[in-house]
Amino acid sequence: MKNLRIGMIGYGFMGRTHSNAFSQVNHFFDLPYRPVLQTLCARNPARAQAFAAQWGYQSVEADWRKVVESPEIDLIDIASPNDTHAEIAIAAAKAGKMVMCEKPLGRTAAEAQGMVEAVEAAGVPNMVWYNYRRVPAVMLAKHLIDEGRLGRIFHYRAKFLQDWTISTDLPQGGEGLWRLDVNVAGSGVTGDLLAHCIDTAMWLNGPIHEVSATTETFIKSRQHNLTGKLEPVGIDDASLFLARFDNGSLATFEATRYARGHKALYTLEINGANASIIWDLHDLHRLQYFDHGDEGRLRGWRSIHVTDSDHPYMKHWWVPGLQIGYEHTFIHQAADFLTAAAGGQAASPTFRDALLTDHVTDAVLASAKNRNWVSIPKA
Ligand SMILES: NC(=O)c1ccc[n+]([C@@H]2O[C@H](COP(=O)([O-])OP(=O)(O)OC[C@H]3O[C@@H](n4cnc5c(N)ncnc54)[C@H](O)[C@@H]3O)[C@@H](O)[C@H]2O)c1
Repeated sequence: MKNLRIGMIGYGFMGRTHSNAFSQVNHFFDLPYRPVLQTLCARNPARAQAFAAQWGYQSVEADWRKVVESPEIDLIDIASPNDTHAEIAIAAAKAGKMVMCEKPLGRTAAEAQGMVEAVEAAGVPNMVWYNYRRVPAVMLAKHLIDEGRLGRIFHYRAKFLQDWTISTDLPQGGEGLWRLDVNVAGSGVTGDLLAHCIDTAMWLNGPIHEVSATTETFIKSRQHNLTGKLEPVGIDDASLFLARFDNGSLATFEATRYARGHKALYTLEINGANASIIWDLHDLHRLQYFDHGDEGRLRGWRSIHVTDSDHPYMKHWWVPGLQIGYEHTFIHQAADFLTAAAGGQAASPTFRDALLTDHVTDAVLASAKNRNWVSIPKA
């Protein structure tokens, strides 16, 4: 087993999920690589030292450029806000490092395109952390669809609902609130929440052909933490769109941070001619499945507890009946990436896969602005 030395950029929410994934992955998966938490990059030295000590990083560095250039680093993992992704990923690829990057890949498809070109020119393994693909129940849905059990797909429905920005007093910008600053985030819920829904949707149901969207910014101006001034809000607070997939199915997508009572309600539903599937992040270890082929007297929705050893990823965990959670999706993604990278293979979603999602989010925002249907460029 070879050591793979990680340079982690950022120690916030995702810095923790990724550090946990790399720490845990060899305990549960037989892998050709052993990730080593080599260097943590963050700008506040005291907090960086504390995080590094807690998670076992061997060194701390304030400037990501030094981490990218360091001969002691094999893989750069970008867990910092969206405006940092492109510059760091392109520099890392040019330095010959493997690159893993948080979603959305770029703030726009144009930004993401440069990142794709950089990793492909360098020929380095790359992946984007669209982690919901690695929920065992969502992977089971993928297997059922790929086996053709649903038949012709008619409908796809996805929602991602939160309620944390309803207060008019909430400022924008700076630590913890960069998601409300359009210059840093690129967009609001379209790039933050819908990007997840779109990635899963295209992975399960194929390419999206065209979209028609509407967005709203409910709170028009907020205090900016970095300038101290009341400034216009440039992000979309809510985003809804209709979509047509290449396979002829129709879809509705909705994301908002104004659905009082919902914290992270990501749900998806797929209706096929023969069967339907529902999945819900709040009950992530279950897959609801309706099979019209069942004997009529017994036909109904099954609630499959996805914990058996023949379910995706589950043989690596506990005994049947014991469920796993959110953090495991990142461990699965690290395991798949490391296995593929050692064999010179790509594990999806690659940067190129994630570029497609940025094309759809760009189209959603353009459609909402211009009030028209917008076609998605082909891969
Ligand atoms: N896959 C998912 O489900 C998921 C969930 C949340 C966030 N994200 C994505 O992860 C990324 C980070 O989000 P988060 O919630 O962890 O944010 P966060 O605010 O919790 O943490 C961001 C971290 O980046 C650091 N940082 C900022 N600029 C930096 C720079 N120039 N150099 C080094 N470090 C820098 C900050 O100090 C902080 O440690 C975003 O792109 C976000 O969209 C993905």
